[in-house]
Amino acid sequence: MINAIAQTAGSLKQIGIAADHGGFELKKYVVRMLEEAGYEVIDFGNSEWKPTDDYPDYVIPLAHALANGFIKRGIAICGSGVGACIAANKVTGVRACLIHERYSAQQGVEDDNMNMICLGGRVVDPSFALELIILFLTAKFSEEERHLRRLAKVAELEKV
Ligand code: RB5
Repeated sequence: MINAIAQTAGSLKQIGIAADHGGFELKKYVVRMLEEAGYEVIDFGNSEWKPTDDYPDYVIPLAHALANGFIKRGIAICGSGVGACIAANKVTGVRACLIHERYSAQQGVEDDNMNMICLGGRVVDPSFALELIILFLTAKFSEEERHLRRLAKVAELEKV
């Protein structure tokens, strides 16, 4: 498994991750697997399991790092993935999506230039989550004119 993932690390090595208590265990697993595969994973917390913590405290710093270009892609995890996704999308330049099936993990990048994947630690099992993450990390935005046009219309909203 690790060897297969390692071949995907390529040039997109520097990625960020964040999770609250609902995603803490899944985050630990994902960080370990991605690091073993050669990714450089910057962990925005939480660094310990704390049942009262709040996902915005970790997801928003991750989102800012992504928007500033400090990392190339982001992974945000909470219990359902919903709160993480809502919070991340408040930051200009972040295109975060809640992904729990294979098709969108890849197509969301190819067509919509998704740069953050959100996952529910209480929804997906670790090995399937890792599969989704690898699909997300290895996909590339197509840069096709129609997709650029649509994204430009979305980006207009960020100027208001
Ligand atoms: C925390 O209990 C839970 O609400 C949070 O992790 C997340 O699922 C929110 O969307």
